[in-house]
Amino acid sequence: SHIQAYRSAILHCIADPAEVGVDAAVEYFADGLLVVEDGHVVACGEASALLVDLADGVEVQELPNSLLTPGFIDTHIHFPQVGVIASYGEQLLDWLNNYTFPAEGHFHDKQHASDMAELFLQELLRNGTTTALVFGTVHKVSVEAFFEQAEKHNLRMIAGKVMMDRHAPDFLTDTPESSYADSKELIERWHQRGRLLYAVTPRFAPTSSDEQLSEAGRLLREYPDVYLHTHLSENHAECAWVQELFPQCSGYLDVYDHFGLLRPRAVFAHGIHLQEAEFKRLAETDSAISFCPTSNLFLGSGLFNLSEAERHGVRVGMGTDVGGGTSFSMLQTLNEGYKVQQLRGHKVHPYKSLYLATLGGARALQLDDRIGSFRVGNEADFVVLDLHATPLMKYRMAQTRSIEEQLFVLTILGDDRAIRATYAAGQCVHQRDAA
Ligand code: GUN
Ligand code: FE
Repeated sequence: SHIQAYRSAILHCIADPAEVGVDAAVEYFADGLLVVEDGHVVACGEASALLVDLADGVEVQELPNSLLTPGFIDTHIHFPQVGVIASYGEQLLDWLNNYTFPAEGHFHDKQHASDMAELFLQELLRNGTTTALVFGTVHKVSVEAFFEQAEKHNLRMIAGKVMMDRHAPDFLTDTPESSYADSKELIERWHQRGRLLYAVTPRFAPTSSDEQLSEAGRLLREYPDVYLHTHLSENHAECAWVQELFPQCSGYLDVYDHFGLLRPRAVFAHGIHLQEAEFKRLAETDSAISFCPTSNLFLGSGLFNLSEAERHGVRVGMGTDVGGGTSFSMLQTLNEGYKVQQLRGHKVHPYKSLYLATLGGARALQLDDRIGSFRVGNEADFVVLDLHATPLMKYRMAQTRSIEEQLFVLTILGDDRAIRATYAAGQCVHQRDAA
């Protein structure tokens, strides 16, 4: 077996600050050691305590001016929208029609899908993201291409084929029958193959008929441990349209509820314009929300009510929502998330930010028994953050007096430049300064 040890300041969340208070939510080792064997965490603690027990011959990698944290978890992103990022001027529905649907049309081509999947994964790893819940396009081949690339890097990734049978261009629609059959084949082939997992992915209520949403529910009954991934209550015009299309339903969430889509491992992106009863229902069914601040600001969608979600005990993770979102960087996403909550009169503690990007994301995905913290036995996905990434950051860090201040500076000033290295299952998958 192969043992590796990393000596650095180490910080990870072991609980939700909202539940146990900020100080009990983290473990911090100023001079820490992370020991990894065969891709799993075997020890994490103070170096002084762990070094004495380390077997002879194990090489210790010293990481000065660094902070080691679990790999970031992006709970909502679209791999076919790499080329849509930074598209000018529109809100959701026009943005979809003018920019997004045309771009997604190219993903019937396997070579294009593979090239874009690899570019996308490299961009995630450059930004310290080791797990993501990923939209494909309507084309089965897009998801084949994505899983093939993710498998090469041994990443824990979740993805699915878009189900969309109406209100979209002909070149992007399937049917209830074909979407069921294609999703089923992808599940059989990819779900739980290595570290890969499948998500049944109806795009959002307006682009699926009743028949198709029924088929999504049927897939979830047949494969109870796959994910459900869709959009929810993002934009006012969208919400009004859903009410028009499903007049028998009491609200947007009720549409999904009606078809049996609310459950553990159901992840709803955005959830900005929710009623109190909808938060209750999300909590009751153990469904999760992906908070996507850069997208919600860029598309003018609104300000997510994180404190209401917290108050109701709804699982929440962070999402970049590229290409509606404007950055692959989880640090930049936390920066914008902090500002959005400021506008709502709510301070997000830096430990809460770290929680949302790691353990909270893992809990939203019901994967906290495998990733999101340095619990012994977990998969060794981690990031080496550079506290001196830029001259400004180095100068600002010199003024800090605590790890929480350092972490806050990292989340506000940090981006891909602050990711010195990224590891997946104990293997280095990105090195910033590689020759
Ligand atoms: N709602 C339906 N499709 C999409 C999409 O591709 N991006 C976002 N942000 N919202 C959506
Ligand atoms: Fe999205």
